Amino acid sequence: KKVVLAYSGGLDTTVIIPWLKENYNYDVIAACIDVGQGNETEGLEERALKSGASKFYLKTVTEEFITDYIYPTMKAGAVYETSYMLGTSMARPLIAKVLVDIALQEGAEAICHGATGKGNDQVRFELTIKALAPQLKIIAPWRIWDMQSREDEIAYCQERGIECPVKKGDSYSRDRNIWHISHEGLELEDPAQEPNYDKLLKLGVTPQAAPDQGTAISISFEKGIPVAINGEAMDPVTLLTTLNELGGQNGIGIVDILENRVVGMKSRGVYETPGGTILYKAHEQLEHMCLDKQTYAYKQTIAIKFAELVYSGEWFTPLREALSAFVDSTQEVITGTVHLVLYKGNIIPAGCTSPNSLYNESIASFTTGELYDHKDAEGFINLFGLSMKIRGMLNNSKN
Ligand code: ARG
Ligand code: SIN
Repeated sequence: KKVVLAYSGGLDTTVIIPWLKENYNYDVIAACIDVGQGNETEGLEERALKSGASKFYLKTVTEEFITDYIYPTMKAGAVYETSYMLGTSMARPLIAKVLVDIALQEGAEAICHGATGKGNDQVRFELTIKALAPQLKIIAPWRIWDMQSREDEIAYCQERGIECPVKKGDSYSRDRNIWHISHEGLELEDPAQEPNYDKLLKLGVTPQAAPDQGTAISISFEKGIPVAINGEAMDPVTLLTTLNELGGQNGIGIVDILENRVVGMKSRGVYETPGGTILYKAHEQLEHMCLDKQTYAYKQTIAIKFAELVYSGEWFTPLREALSAFVDSTQEVITGTVHLVLYKGNIIPAGCTSPNSLYNESIASFTTGELYDHKDAEGFINLFGLSMKIRGMLNNSKN
């Protein structure tokens, strides 16, 4: 009997390997799904096998993560509770999908993950597994075993002579991929405290520490998808890596929020999304230029719903797919180049061009403009305001 374990090499998933063998007699297939977590994947195979796994997979799906999960979410303009750019939320359905692929290929009967019973990640992993392979069993050790803390886990490893990836429980709970890094725990658990940014930040610096000189860049889009920086065409991974560096250096994309988790509690997180924040801003500039008023307004309302769906792990649902189809239709015209200046945590617009621009200078200009007759406005306002006028007359007749 086999189980596929979502393995990161961290403390939780290291402990889970012997635990699965002892409690279920499973062969444990440790699978690391690389969505751009950087050097975190080094030496994992050896560590997994040493901890008792019978087989190890490393699947790199960073490009698929960008093109099939990040870009659809960015095109939707989805941001959770006005601030969180969904870096962990978007990655979970893809990770779970790859775990399902491996489980089916290996003939495994279960998938196991190391998310706790308090969080969002358990929901996202399990909803995806149910949507794609409902026959698979799901094992969530945090909801089963008696271990309560990192100290318990460390003791469990030591009793079995298994090397521990951390020595004491003094680090943040982090999740990193090509889009972002999240930080939770330690002083962040007290919302009255300022985050210890010097210790915390991994992808960049604070706005205060960023250079006094701004960095000018341009980003070109085709149908809502970023394709070039400063006129240079780039593949998705290179493009996002480049933007992460530029954003990080300029203190961009640091967010500190109290968010509402799916399970009902509030939790405090600090997120670094340097490149992603630049991309959202650039994409938004082009939408302001190329989308008509009604489409733009409607799109704003669905962005909130889209973010909720992504946050709650409802990626593989009819509604998310239908909303994506709508969004893709709106993106047909989102082609052009956006100029920006990155400066101490700010992204300052510096001009925008598009072959699909709906901006018409000869109509909008204060100084020129034969295409617009000022006189038309009077009749327009008379009808636009008719219902207000009627109500005003009624109110006045009463007093
Ligand atoms: N609160 C964020 C979210 O729900 C980040 C979760 C981070 N997950 C983790 N395993 N460290 O998307
Ligand atoms: C966890 O609890 O496993 C991490 C945080 C989350 O899923 O929200």
